[in-house]
Amino acid sequence: MRLVHVVGTRPNVVKMAPVIAATRERFGAAGSVVVHTGQHYDRAMSEVFLEQLGVGEPDHLLGVGSGTHAEQTARVLERLEPVLAAERPDLVLVPGDVNSTLAAALCADRLELGVGHVESGLRSFDRSMPEEINRVVTDHLSELLFLHSPEARENLLAEGVEERRLRFVGNTMIDTLVALEESFRARGTANGLGLEPGSYLLVTLHRPSLVDGPLLGAALAALGRVAAEMPVVFPVHPRTRKRLGGADAGAVTLVDPVGYLDFLSLESEAAAVLTDSGGIQEETTYLRIPCFTLRDNTERPVTITAGTNTLLGLDPRRITEIPALLGEGSATDLDPPALWDGAAAQRIADILEGC
Ligand code: UD1
Ligand code: UDP
Repeated sequence: MRLVHVVGTRPNVVKMAPVIAATRERFGAAGSVVVHTGQHYDRAMSEVFLEQLGVGEPDHLLGVGSGTHAEQTARVLERLEPVLAAERPDLVLVPGDVNSTLAAALCADRLELGVGHVESGLRSFDRSMPEEINRVVTDHLSELLFLHSPEARENLLAEGVEERRLRFVGNTMIDTLVALEESFRARGTANGLGLEPGSYLLVTLHRPSLVDGPLLGAALAALGRVAAEMPVVFPVHPRTRKRLGGADAGAVTLVDPVGYLDFLSLESEAAAVLTDSGGIQEETTYLRIPCFTLRDNTERPVTITAGTNTLLGLDPRRITEIPALLGEGSATDLDPPALWDGAAAQRIADILEGC
């Protein structure tokens, strides 16, 4: 089995690192080639993850960078084609729902190469989000769909995807968390920032619907009010940083994006998390940390039924309710969802070995 893994963004690396490790072990480094598209390129959004998660230097760097959706997608298509044409793998593996995912799946399909989609079948049913289109198209182009939650199966069957293409393997992002749990638990990042463990609200916001318009200013103002009641620490995504400019954050502690180990250390010791990230809704479910999602919908309803995630909606004024909602007690002692157990990538490797 010869594979090409295509990653492009911060969460892609978190999802694929265990799959890359497991397939390198089974098929050797030459049978498990890594392409990084360069959709994310700052050291703090890219290299730090490749290093901390043990992926190392990718075999191919495409350097596509930022741009409109069309520019970014087109650059991946154009630059990936010669790489895939030369490698001629048995399967191209793509994770998640970013522009690099869609472009890589389309490129592989046009070259008549098989595609495997990791984290398949999630649906927000909100087609105004580019990620939703990326998910649907990638799923329909893929011959192997790796699922991590039961509703993914229902979503795919409802779209007419044949059952024989589906493989319920579990959550590879949780594999990464499990593999590095000892390291991040020993890290003490909150203490280093002068924060008492269990006392603070950790924030990440980067969705265009929130940060590309006036809602971002309203969110920052609401966070300022929360900061009067509990410390608020906000590692700022580069998209959000660009929009914030020099805005006055008041008592909110704004920091640059932090590496995986520091982020998981902060996440595991937070009183609660406010986010619009997909991955963070899942990690908080595994860690049993209350999560408030500043969106109208989620493609990850399993995080809500697990009892950790509360969908606040897109209105930033609701942020000020968080201290009171925490007082009501939203902790959960439910087990994590099925197969969020640290072994999903090994299941993927087992399936690939049997192909
Ligand atoms: C992308 C994904 C989103 C995912 C997120 C994870 C798409 C459509 N969106 O959003 O689904 O949740 O990644 O973080 O694929 N920038 C930098 N340095 C970087 C990367 C980006 O400064 O290393 C800035 C640029 O100004 C760029 C902007 O961030 O224009 C947005 O980057 P882009 O990759 O287009 O989308 P994200 O918002 O990161
Ligand atoms: N993350 C990180 N540092 C940060 C913010 C997030 O390491 O400053 C990690 C987080 O733990 C998760 C992943 O990045 O593993 C989520 O990425 P992001 O929120 O950018 O993307 P999404 O999941 O929304 O696609």
